[in-house]
Amino acid sequence: MLRDLIGAIVFTAAVLAAVDFIGDIAVRPQLTSVSAPAPTPAMETAETATSATGSTPAPETPAVVASTRDLGGDAQKGKKLFRKKCQNCHTMDKGGPDRTGPNLWSIVGRTKASREDFRYSRTMESLGGVWTLAEINSLITRPRSFVPDTKMVFAGLKKEQERADVLAFLQTLTD
Ligand code: HEC
Repeated sequence: MLRDLIGAIVFTAAVLAAVDFIGDIAVRPQLTSVSAPAPTPAMETAETATSATGSTPAPETPAVVASTRDLGGDAQKGKKLFRKKCQNCHTMDKGGPDRTGPNLWSIVGRTKASREDFRYSRTMESLGGVWTLAEINSLITRPRSFVPDTKMVFAGLKKEQERADVLAFLQTLTD
């Protein structure tokens, strides 16, 4: 009788220990499987975002080039607009100096914030990748929205047509 009781207690203890042990095994992989994939979607999003902002030639780029054409971006008009709106701060010729803003020769596809001697804002410097038409479009729509601490003190070009013209002109600034 006593042996039976001790036996039952030992058995119960063993079962409890086993359940505890199995529980640990069962729970641990669950925990890792819950926490491990979690960063993955975030990383995917980050990757998508990076490719969308064009550190590699994103599929978005030709679409924007096409839409610039669709909008009838006129490089001649863009040059006039550039003289009026941008030239106070930016030179556009090859080898031209930086002024209030950096020289913009070959800016489409140029690495962001890459003029050696120009002191960019912190955010501009941390953007990374090369300038796509889409991003220059966003920048000149309202610089402060694109780069909150920007040194580019420029209200922006509100008219889509004017931006398309300026972008068409900027595309000509290349060898
Ligand atoms: C009041 C001066 C000013 C005007 C006007 C101005 N910019 Fe800028 N621009 C700057 C400054 C300063 C920077 C650097 C911004 C920073 O570091 O945040 C800059 C940066 C840029 C850059 C990024 C250059 C690089 O090397 O990465 C582009 C592109 C640009 N401007 C285009 C334009 C265009 C196009 C216009 C006209 C529609 C224009 N800007 C008007 C001052 C100006």
